[in-house]
Amino acid sequence: MGVLDGKVSFVTGGSRGIGRAICLALAEAGSDVALNYSTSREAAEEVAALIHKMGRKALIYQANVSNPDEDDTMVAQIVKDFGLVHIVVNNAGITRDKSFVKMDRPMWHEVLNVNLTGPAMIIHRLIKPMMEHGWGRIINITSIVGQMGNFGQANYAAAKGGLMALTKTLAREFAKKGVTVNAVAPGFIDTDMTADVPSASLDIVRQMTPMGRLGKPEEVAATVAFLASPQASFITGEIIGVNGGMYM
Ligand code: NAI
Repeated sequence: MGVLDGKVSFVTGGSRGIGRAICLALAEAGSDVALNYSTSREAAEEVAALIHKMGRKALIYQANVSNPDEDDTMVAQIVKDFGLVHIVVNNAGITRDKSFVKMDRPMWHEVLNVNLTGPAMIIHRLIKPMMEHGWGRIINITSIVGQMGNFGQANYAAAKGGLMALTKTLAREFAKKGVTVNAVAPGFIDTDMTADVPSASLDIVRQMTPMGRLGKPEEVAATVAFLASPQASFITGEIIGVNGGMYM
């Protein structure tokens, strides 16, 4: 028996990194999982197979979350396959880094579309039945960069900062309907996203982090699973940092 028995979770970007760990943690807690991926079908199938082994239902859905038509098709199929979605985790995200002076419009729009507009529109598609049901959890994966800013990440910081503001506003709008809306703001976590960061920069990150190390995807996922659980019923509009003390 898990605390999320009978619940259905939908996780974007669930095939690798933090998203993969979130899918597994939610399944471990008892949830069935609808897993979105953009390109890596094989990796998504692997995660689904691990969830099946836990005795939970898992299905995978290919879609680019910044494409409204693909989102419509995906959400319609998820509702057909699972019925009500109880837990939405907006995890998919990208970086397109350049100093602001050199950043062009496509780089700006691509990051804002995937990291901010995509999550907002996914919530918009799923919120009505959740409110009618009177119970729901929305968890947005933002970033320490949205809290502190970061050189070369104006687009990413603006998107993640916007996602935190969206989280607080929707928390107020949905509070009386039994739906909580929270954000998790990871610091630097050891995934494909940080694999591109030069090792000298990662050394600086370690020096700036009181715990002296990068985080693990599982440490972010455990926080998401807690926020999704009935135990977190009086928490809404919060931004929970998982950052080894880098920002407090
Ligand atoms: P990752 O690059 O390993 O995974 C991102 C996932 O999102 C991938 O599965 C990718 O296919 C998917 N994705 C990207 N664009 C998509 C799109 N348009 N439609 C659907 N899926 C798409 O990165 P990681 O580290 O696992 O990141 C997960 C989330 O955590 C992101 O929102 C990221 O911004 C955030 N984050 C990561 C940190 C880190 O240090 N790794 C720190 C703070 C936040």
